[in-house]
Amino acid sequence: MRKNPRSIVLMFVGVLSALMVVGLLALAGMSLKSNAADETSTQSGAPTPEGTAEEKPKEEKAEVKEGEGEECCKAGDTTAPTELVEKVPPGHLHSPYQDYAKLAKDDPDLVKQFRLPGCNECHGGTGGGGFCPALTQGVWFWGNTDDVLFRLATLGSAELEKRGFVRYQYGSVHAPMPPMGMTIKTSDQLWKIIAFIRSINPPGANPPEKVIPGKMADEKH
Ligand code: HEC
Repeated sequence: MRKNPRSIVLMFVGVLSALMVVGLLALAGMSLKSNAADETSTQSGAPTPEGTAEEKPKEEKAEVKEGEGEECCKAGDTTAPTELVEKVPPGHLHSPYQDYAKLAKDDPDLVKQFRLPGCNECHGGTGGGGFCPALTQGVWFWGNTDDVLFRLATLGSAELEKRGFVRYQYGSVHAPMPPMGMTIKTSDQLWKIIAFIRSINPPGANPPEKVIPGKMADEKH
């Protein structure tokens, strides 16, 4: 049974176009999904009393940066921080409290979350510095994304480095940040602590105004 070369070429073209159609359908599905995600996030942002026109462009920018369909992380998450950093790959931890300024304003006791695990013992009662670096200076040794801050507080700086993160700069104190993950009960609490830390930094020191991503030692690009 010899097939003539032309029919083989035709078959090949047929298979190729079928593949293209499948690919296009998948793409269309993806963009539909991301549209849906966009819609839900704008909806959830809508009821905030201060969700004025001023805030909107910022939200859009953040969405482009962080990509759609990110699962992690949700408010009220009771997962232990030590568990969450193992479950979620580097770069994919996103705070459910993007509007940290609002959270800090609505909850004047937010600082208590920071004191509970004893962060104040080194960083000062309101984070302004003790015998360890002030957290108020808008300087970020390892980067300032949610992902970096969550991992740094959970794992400490030595372990962060072991996992491939690279330091941008030193502070005035050349000491390691200890792993605090065991002392912080829930991921929700750590997100609140991170929101507090952002709220005491100068404007423009935080994402999305100024994103300093975690630098990875083995970055291929
Ligand atoms: C035993 C003292 C100590 C305790 C307790 C401590 N830290 Fe730190 N922290 C440090 C030191 C020292 C550094 C500087 C580490 C470095 O240069 O890598 C640091 C760095 C940091 C940074 C990075 C600051 C920057 O400008 O980039 C953050 C954020 C931070 N700590 C948050 C916390 C949080 C949140 C807690 C409580 C859960 C906490 N720390 C508890 C000593 C401490």
